[in-house]
Amino acid sequence: RLVLDWTKVHDVFPIEKHLANETSNLISAKKSLVSGKGKSPEFTGWVDYVKEEAQSVLHSIKKQVETICNHSDAVVVVGIGGSLLGTKAVYEALTHSFAIVNQESLHRRPVLFWAGHHIALDELSELLDALDSYSPSLIVVSKSGGTTEPALAFRILKKYLDDRFGTEEASHRIFAITDPNDGTLLKIAKENNYPHFPIPKNIGGRYSIFTPVGLLPLAISGVNVTEFVAGAEQAFYDSTSEKNHSLETNPALCYAGIRNILYANKYKIESLCTWSPKAKGIAEWWKQLFGESDGKENSGLFPASANFTTDLHSLGQYFQDGERHLFATHLKVADEYSLAKGSLKRKIKIPNCSLNDGFDFLTGQELSHVQNEAQQGTFLAHSDGKVPTLIWELPEMNAWWLGYWMYINMFACGVGGYARGINPFDQPGVEDYKNNMFALMGKPGHADKAAQIRSRLSS
Ligand code: PA5
Repeated sequence: RLVLDWTKVHDVFPIEKHLANETSNLISAKKSLVSGKGKSPEFTGWVDYVKEEAQSVLHSIKKQVETICNHSDAVVVVGIGGSLLGTKAVYEALTHSFAIVNQESLHRRPVLFWAGHHIALDELSELLDALDSYSPSLIVVSKSGGTTEPALAFRILKKYLDDRFGTEEASHRIFAITDPNDGTLLKIAKENNYPHFPIPKNIGGRYSIFTPVGLLPLAISGVNVTEFVAGAEQAFYDSTSEKNHSLETNPALCYAGIRNILYANKYKIESLCTWSPKAKGIAEWWKQLFGESDGKENSGLFPASANFTTDLHSLGQYFQDGERHLFATHLKVADEYSLAKGSLKRKIKIPNCSLNDGFDFLTGQELSHVQNEAQQGTFLAHSDGKVPTLIWELPEMNAWWLGYWMYINMFACGVGGYARGINPFDQPGVEDYKNNMFALMGKPGHADKAAQIRSRLSS
């Protein structure tokens, strides 16, 4: 079972008493979310999507997955924010980090590459170089169909495919995931006969990982998407059940409550602390989920991240000794041997050697034992340093448990937002930057705004 251990929060802050006071508020927030009676109910379709619709998506993508795997050994996923981060997170956590080096002997699935999540020349140019060694396809993901970064990357990558394969063959290598009824990308897909898959209208980007947005590319990469959806489905039942209002057995409610209480009591930053480089993407997905959902009305926890033990040698000092306004939420994996598909699940023991490096006392110990001791030492040190420390303990890092944990976080994000009185399903702040950028780039219809901005910039 997924455990949310908050005993180390309690060591620093009397959370239990506050949680008891907050329970009824959390339960009514949960009811609003499940019944679609809270703010922006038109964007809460993700709550029960995993129960039925995700299964039918799995059937509907099957044929395309086979086709793509037959002609491609690399797939570039083009998207930004919620249209990319979840896929990248799951892919990096569950597939082999070095398959690109020796893909043949490890698994024969296409590798995934990423584009459209920035406007930086250097990385895109290197991606174009790398694609020459592959037989690539593109999956373009944009709900609105009008986001600048993926639209420009798509143009550039489409030209690459056209030049290399000719327009006809290139068109068989392009797939779109977008709004089912509207938008430029849908129009382009229809005009060019690109197979296209829907992002339901009632699901916003950062809540879309269990739709074709995540399922199509992840299935191509060989992630067990059936298990991924099954984990999320179980999390749906555990989180939404009418009978499960207890904070002890409903980790989403408990997590939402602890976050809100700590925020109201001077802890303004939450850091998700992961313990493997393979989990860095999970933290990026989590930061977007909570940052874009919580940061409203000049309030909200700032979501940060740290990757340990690496960052114990940098941010560790701040955790221990810096301003006391942050709390840590750790993502710990109980069974370290099941790290990822294709990783051969090997145990590594510290070997005997004649280096005289002062580490003979660890000879014969498993690396996971050392990791565990590092974790316990860190939790204790941070607790002593007055950092409230929450620990998610995932039984295994596999598709089922990752699906379960991601859904729990989405649900906690919705409940926590409602309990705090904000709207966790809009993102008005993101629009501000987009409009400034459109105006400065000369997008038709933005001339007045452009004139205003230019006069501000020159004053
Ligand atoms: O969560 C969100 O809604 C955003 O992060 C979007 O996913 C992001 O801005 C990309 O939008 P789109 O899919 O419309 O290109």
